[in-house]
Amino acid sequence: MKINPVRGTHDLFGEEINKFNKVVAEVKDISQQFGFNELITPIFESSELFKKPLGEQSDVVLKEMYTFNDRNEDEITLRPEYTTPMIRAAISNGLLNNLPAKFFGTGQMFRRERPQKGRYRQFNQINFENFGSDDFFADIEIISLANTLLKKLIPNSNFTLHINTLGARENLSAYKKILSKFFNDNQKSLSKESLDKIYINPLRILDSKNPEDSAIIKKSPKLIDLISKTDLNNYEEIKKCLTDIGITIFEDPNLVRGLDYYCHTVFEFKSNELGSQDTLIGGGRYNGLIKTLGGQDIPGVGWAGGIERIMLLMNSIPQKEADIHIAILDPSFKIHAIKIYDFLIKNNFSVYWNYKYNLKKSLSFANEKKINYLIIVGENEKANNNFSIKNLSNGKQVIVNIDNILDYLK
Ligand code: HAM
Repeated sequence: MKINPVRGTHDLFGEEINKFNKVVAEVKDISQQFGFNELITPIFESSELFKKPLGEQSDVVLKEMYTFNDRNEDEITLRPEYTTPMIRAAISNGLLNNLPAKFFGTGQMFRRERPQKGRYRQFNQINFENFGSDDFFADIEIISLANTLLKKLIPNSNFTLHINTLGARENLSAYKKILSKFFNDNQKSLSKESLDKIYINPLRILDSKNPEDSAIIKKSPKLIDLISKTDLNNYEEIKKCLTDIGITIFEDPNLVRGLDYYCHTVFEFKSNELGSQDTLIGGGRYNGLIKTLGGQDIPGVGWAGGIERIMLLMNSIPQKEADIHIAILDPSFKIHAIKIYDFLIKNNFSVYWNYKYNLKKSLSFANEKKINYLIIVGENEKANNNFSIKNLSNGKQVIVNIDNILDYLK
């Protein structure tokens, strides 16, 4: 019986797992540098955590959630994103008493999307969230964090920051109504796909990639006209500070993001080397969301990045090989060989043992894997209670024993 992986899932191994581990290690380093604490939440949650906050009409809730009834009929959803679970966890565990509270996490997310390059049904996200600060410095800090991380992981890649402001939540709901009316009055100029969104989610029409829609989108009312002076000034400060710290920004008034909880600053880091799934990191402000989920009325800002998408742009990372390879010339010398093997392991060397009992095969294995030292355990070594060690970079071979091998390896 041959069972294939489920569509949209993938296994990680070899060089890919090395890239994956590098991403997670850099995330952990950077979280300390910026003062974020790790928060790991369950892979599944009550469905209601996602439905309203992400938007009943959002693609994620309408089409992509893996939702099922537990045996006692509780409705459960495999998490499609990490922001709402993090907020839920912060509230459940009383982690919002000292503000700002800053958390990060990495882990699997699940969305039943049409799989393609950079888009999977099970994928991994990096997530950084800052709860409790309205200060626009929090927006700059979280964007700078994302930029620093990407620079470390993909230094040769040409990623770009796209940014927009959605203004306060009230502006956004007023704007949606104005937009629905405008698109309704101009139905003839819209693609079939966008017609379906006029009342359900008119903001999504703005980032339609269908060329049929582009002329009418250009003429559509602009959100910026509804945003207050103070909010616009804040946005100007954010853009100025980002530019001052050397981050080039591309302003995109049509950037609205796919989840409903955003307001004020929204942003995406994109790369033109990825094809259609070109967003590496997406995020923004979500003032009001923590209150909706039963917490205090405090603001929040954060982002999530797709680990698999970042990995597509990373250079390969070869497997780390052992320091020492042991060549045992006959199975009957194993009991002698185990002494040096155990001694080296206890002294923190990585030692490889290949069960071949053949010098030629062991030598070619060690050379191929670029292992530095070969310990040879043969008849003489067993009889004299010592070991031969060959330095494979210069070919020199000497006799050592457990008492002096560490001096030799130094
Ligand atoms: P999102 O834009 O839905 O935002 O996802 C963030 C990132 O996750 C995307 O930019 C992409 O790199 C990756 N991603 C999303 N879907 C897939 C997929 N099917 N396959 C592979 N990678 C994918 C959020 O999830 C928000 N929670 C971000 C956020 C955090 N906003 C504030 N805080």
